[in-house]
Amino acid sequence: MKRNFKLLCGGRVITATEDFIGDVLIEDSQVVALGKDLKSLELPANMEQVNAQGLYVFPGGVDCHTHLDLPFMGTSSSDDFETGTIAALSGGTTSIIDFAIQEQKRSFAEALNQWHEKARGKATIDYAFHLAVTDFNEKTEQELPGVIDSGVTSIKCFMAYKGALMVDDGQLFRLMQKAKALGALVTLHAEHAELIETLVAQFLKDKKTAPLYHELAHTAIGEGEATHRAIALSRAAGHPTYIVHLTCNEALHHVKDSLTRHQHPVFSETCPQYLLLDRSYYERSGFEGAKWVMSPPLRTKDDQKALWAALRDGFIQTIATDHCPFNFSGQKDMGKESFAKIPNGAPGIENRMNLMFTYGVLENRISLNRFVEILCTNPARIFGMYPKKGTIAPGSDADIVLFDPAAENIISVKTSKHRCDYSAFEGFKTIGEPVHVLSRGEWVLKDKKVVVPRGYGQFIKRKRFKPPGGFAEA
Ligand code: URP
Ligand code: ZN
Ligand code: ZN
Repeated sequence: MKRNFKLLCGGRVITATEDFIGDVLIEDSQVVALGKDLKSLELPANMEQVNAQGLYVFPGGVDCHTHLDLPFMGTSSSDDFETGTIAALSGGTTSIIDFAIQEQKRSFAEALNQWHEKARGKATIDYAFHLAVTDFNEKTEQELPGVIDSGVTSIKCFMAYKGALMVDDGQLFRLMQKAKALGALVTLHAEHAELIETLVAQFLKDKKTAPLYHELAHTAIGEGEATHRAIALSRAAGHPTYIVHLTCNEALHHVKDSLTRHQHPVFSETCPQYLLLDRSYYERSGFEGAKWVMSPPLRTKDDQKALWAALRDGFIQTIATDHCPFNFSGQKDMGKESFAKIPNGAPGIENRMNLMFTYGVLENRISLNRFVEILCTNPARIFGMYPKKGTIAPGSDADIVLFDPAAENIISVKTSKHRCDYSAFEGFKTIGEPVHVLSRGEWVLKDKKVVVPRGYGQFIKRKRFKPPGGFAEA
């Protein structure tokens, strides 16, 4: 069979640990070499040479928290696996981990089959699944070894959304014990469900129905309490845990305490919206605040400062998007009469790299190596995809972003690829953008145009989670 070679020449190659001007050699779907001057090697005549001068060469982004085609709160997230992954790859993401959500009283197998069905033949980039467990009992427990063998090696539990997705603390603890025995990682949406339910009922009783009351019901105190409880259960189970979409200092405090005082590993993730948008968005006139109704909600500017510092200092390991789009017109407006009926979530899948580059790297909050680490390498490591994904190294998949560090843009729904009628970051200025993207050695984005057929994306069978060093075994 004919082998295909590509040589990316003269770009600034940046991984979590390296930063040099040089070349990357690709054979078929994999990286075979990287170095300062590979052109001097004897290379095949049929090789495609790509001039990467002036561009940054990053590993493809790994977004470990997305919700495509998710049935939720009486509707479905507006991006499916085709539109959502087109938007993702336009923004430099080449792998996602979506959540296969078990319906209560249904099996895990049904959830995973449904999600395979949603993604197969549609996704343009590679994808994996977390299993979101909503009903853990003696019967579903028997399914876990098979789930993990199938490459779904992380489990998500919701400590919120009572009566819909939530599991109780007993289920959660037993899942953590099981995860430890089987080599999986339990990830948690940490909020205090009872406190939320009580406040929601009180607000509605007082006819306080505007989007602002969503934020007032989902308190930082409640997120802090649930994060503490999650970590306590994880310590009692003797197994690390992972906090998704962490938003505030109240929660961060417990993560830091676990890592420093107890030396118990807890991973945490935050999202660009929690770093860049604040609670004042809920005070916008009319119903506009509904665009940012998500759980947990946007917090204060002080929380943002604390999150940036924690990212820099290593207390937060990953940046994901929690992309969960609902149209403002026709979906968000289901909650016009009551904030409790606004579908929770917002779009963001295509803006992770340009926002973090502009407001993280260029504002000197994080280094370029740290940028790659939190957007690519750490999510791949923690979730058992490294070194195939998340880096540029011999043997890794040739998932590569050629990034123009000087391109200036303004985010707008008008130019966004996602299928949603607004952008959560409308009007944000960005510097830097992906120009060309490779996925497994094939061009999927060329000159900012998506050139990949639907269905190119493959399911990523992930490795088991193994705690030493805190990361999945390489
Ligand atoms: O509001 C959010 N975050 N919606 C998506 C579901 C979740 O809680 O992650
Ligand atoms: Zn969540
Ligand atoms: Zn989510």
